[in-house]
Amino acid sequence: MRAIAIASLKGGVGTSTTTINLGAALATIGRKVLLIDADPKGNTTLGLNICTNESHSLTELLNCDDVRIDDCVQSTYVKGLDIIPWNRSIIEVEEESMLASQDAKEFRLRTELSEIGGYDYILIDCSTRSKILYTNVLTFATELIVPVKLEPLNISTLGPMLDTLKSINQRIGSIVNHRIELLGLLINFYNLWPIISRSSYQTVRKAFGEKIFETKIPINSKIGESQISGKAVFDHSQNCKGAIAFKSFAQEILLSESVGPKAS
Ligand SMILES: Nc1ncnc2c1ncn2[C@@H]1O[C@H](COP(=O)(O)OP(=O)(O)OP(=O)(O)O)[C@@H](O)[C@H]1O
Ligand SMILES: [Mg+2]
Repeated sequence: MRAIAIASLKGGVGTSTTTINLGAALATIGRKVLLIDADPKGNTTLGLNICTNESHSLTELLNCDDVRIDDCVQSTYVKGLDIIPWNRSIIEVEEESMLASQDAKEFRLRTELSEIGGYDYILIDCSTRSKILYTNVLTFATELIVPVKLEPLNISTLGPMLDTLKSINQRIGSIVNHRIELLGLLINFYNLWPIISRSSYQTVRKAFGEKIFETKIPINSKIGESQISGKAVFDHSQNCKGAIAFKSFAQEILLSESVGPKAS
């Protein structure tokens, strides 16, 4: 089983989009996939049209001792794709204060998921704004995908993201025998026409080289539309550019099953 966090220090770069569409594409290929919505914006939950009124969500899993994984997992419309949703009535500060009062607060997710089985992939849409929630994800996941928009402000956040991984590996890795590695950078909103995008691309290639996935996700309005309709982009518009790109990204992730994270 691979546990992959999908996160960025910059908002609006495609973290939830990647979680939904990579997850659905892997499930369509035949992998068993669990999505975890660990972002209080709840956009992965919303983008798959999941209702949380009468079911438990990640918050209860992390904060209530009597709630188990099976109480929180819901199926989605895609065969083989399950989700632990975020309840959008829980805002970030509430979650932070609940987690802060827990014993071993940085390891709640790891503890709750320690015996999970039956999945090939766990993909986690992850907020980096809530430090405790983010640390919970990084102490469980072993690989990280960072969606990137080719803009200087986004590029400048990549170094600090990697520093966080190093610090988690040093600070926490030795306590619980855990390591998280960068699996790769996924260029989203790919369009090299603007000069600023071309120069940002050169910067990112120079700094991260092989760590950039071959697949790039182009700008495609069908992606936004699909989230409103509660579906993966290829179930909304089968042959649009975004659908083709996400299917090809899933194939690239499958290839890395045998290879593991790429060397930088
Ligand atoms: N390649 C793309 N082409 C066009 N629109 C896109 C593309 N990728 C994402 N979007 C749209 O951009 C918006 C932001 O994407 P998304 O919500 O996935 O980003 P995010 O990083 O999760 O943002 P947040 O910080 O709010 O969690 C959404 O409306 C989404 O539909
Ligand atoms: Mg999001």
